[in-house]
Amino acid sequence: MRIPIIAGNWKMFKTVAEAKDFATALPAIEKGVEAVVCVPFTALSSVGEILSRKNVSLGAQNVHWEEEGAFTGEISPLMLKELGVKYAIIGHSERRAYFNETNETVNLRIKAALKHGIHPIVCVGEDLQQRETGQTKAVVKEQMEAAMQGISQEDLFKFVIAYEPIWAIGTGKTSSAEDANEVIGYIRQLIADQFDQNTAIQVRIQYGGSVKPENIAGFMDQPDIDGALVGGASLKPDSFAALLKGAR
Ligand code: G3P
Repeated sequence: MRIPIIAGNWKMFKTVAEAKDFATALPAIEKGVEAVVCVPFTALSSVGEILSRKNVSLGAQNVHWEEEGAFTGEISPLMLKELGVKYAIIGHSERRAYFNETNETVNLRIKAALKHGIHPIVCVGEDLQQRETGQTKAVVKEQMEAAMQGISQEDLFKFVIAYEPIWAIGTGKTSSAEDANEVIGYIRQLIADQFDQNTAIQVRIQYGGSVKPENIAGFMDQPDIDGALVGGASLKPDSFAALLKGAR
């Protein structure tokens, strides 16, 4: 049985004071769904403890692949582990588009996170032009194969994969639940091809892109979708709580 997982991605929103207000206002999360909030690095140390009292796991939005070194502006997996980080988003399309993240660096970051006991939330997905020219599966295949390069079966179980079509991020347009399920089913097939069917059915795969309390149930009804990676609608405690309720 795959436990649904709802992860908030706050992106570059919230000061420490605002993050603490969110964590304090959030009601305790009931069982049946796993909740994660991926906060800015600056807020990690202040909200981790408050969130853990509410049964919410702490997540980061990126992680470097080295433990330490001359990498100005970067944060290492050791530093995140020290703050109680359980999940790290890796390969978000905004990192790929604006910060030169490549399939190779995504793979390096995944391996570094796993080495330090941090679960990667690996983002894949096509842009609008790729969608319209029928390249969705080819793009997702390339991203998934690179992400899984050199990964053991035991480590793959620790992955969460987020299928986020880029054209649906922050636009208010969502993929239809059926289309999202089809791509996510295809991602399971890619895992089965690399490992086996048993592995493929155990890995949790989320949908992301304009998910809100009003539309989450439709995605959760799909057999291959195990939750959501949510941007805008994760920023308010009542909206995040409603997403969790809708996912149970
Ligand atoms: O990682 C979450 C994401 O990119 C989706 O953002 O605002 O469309 O829910 P949003």
